[in-house]
Amino acid sequence: MSDAPVLIDRQDDGLVILTLNRPQRRNALGKELVTALRQTLDALATDVEARVVVITGAGPKAFCAGADLKERAQMSPPEVQRFVTALRAMMDEIAALPKPTIAAINGYALGGGCELALSCDLRIAAEGASLGLPETHLGIIPGAGGTQRLPRLLGPALAKELIFTSRRLTGAEAAAIGLVNRVCPDDKLLEEAANLAAPILTAAPIALAQAKAAIDAGLEVDLASGMKIEKACYAVTIPTEDRLEALAAFKEKRRPQFKGR
Ligand code: COA
Repeated sequence: MSDAPVLIDRQDDGLVILTLNRPQRRNALGKELVTALRQTLDALATDVEARVVVITGAGPKAFCAGADLKERAQMSPPEVQRFVTALRAMMDEIAALPKPTIAAINGYALGGGCELALSCDLRIAAEGASLGLPETHLGIIPGAGGTQRLPRLLGPALAKELIFTSRRLTGAEAAAIGLVNRVCPDDKLLEEAANLAAPILTAAPIALAQAKAAIDAGLEVDLASGMKIEKACYAVTIPTEDRLEALAAFKEKRRPQFKGR
């Protein structure tokens, strides 16, 4: 197997599986991995062949054990600040990717690993997964979106409980409170992630990107402003070939073939 920090598996149907590849450090986010993941995301953002992106971790033990604490111990305070800024930017880049993303959580998703999963649109966890934000017990706070994305997903009371206590949740517990969309047996994780992706892969890519943008931007504003955002996002889909293709396919009683144009 390659020793590249991020493995990229492109499938014919447009599914792209990114694997964080530092299993010996439980896929912890070191500088090299963060740089590689950011470069990969940058390329995928404009890649019309890539329709749905799954992010998972190499090895059976961890999705991602968060920031690389060994690397961190060698950093000066300004270096820590710079690194956390890069980490936060990476999470924002994942969240802003103009295509659906799915975190396939195998094993530990702690700290930055949990925040990485929170930056994805959808999450599927293996039963044996362990999700948590341990930062307050490390003298810090979640610094890559955890204090912002977790309460938006679960509400403030649950988010505060999880962040204050650093409690770890199993895949089933995470599914029960809505932290992940689905839970599945450990050995079926990638298969179930592909099943989750399958009906998304047949949707129109520009429509997906605009639906994602409308939902995400709309969550931050009042309803009237959100309706304006929806209108603007809808308008982007009107001149597309894919919209006309869907109308033609309906008339001809066939499946549409979307090209992302
Ligand atoms: N940063 C750097 N190295 C890490 C790491 C991290 N976040 N998490 C694990 N590793 C390294 C361990 O130091 C160990 O290296 P070694 O073999 O050189 O000693 C190796 O990965 C395996 O870890 P180990 O603890 O033996 O594996 P485990 O499967 O028993 O436990 C964890 C895995 C993730 C529960 C445990 O390693 C852990 O608690 N890590 C820290 C997680 C954390 O607090 N993250 C939040 C940071 S803000």
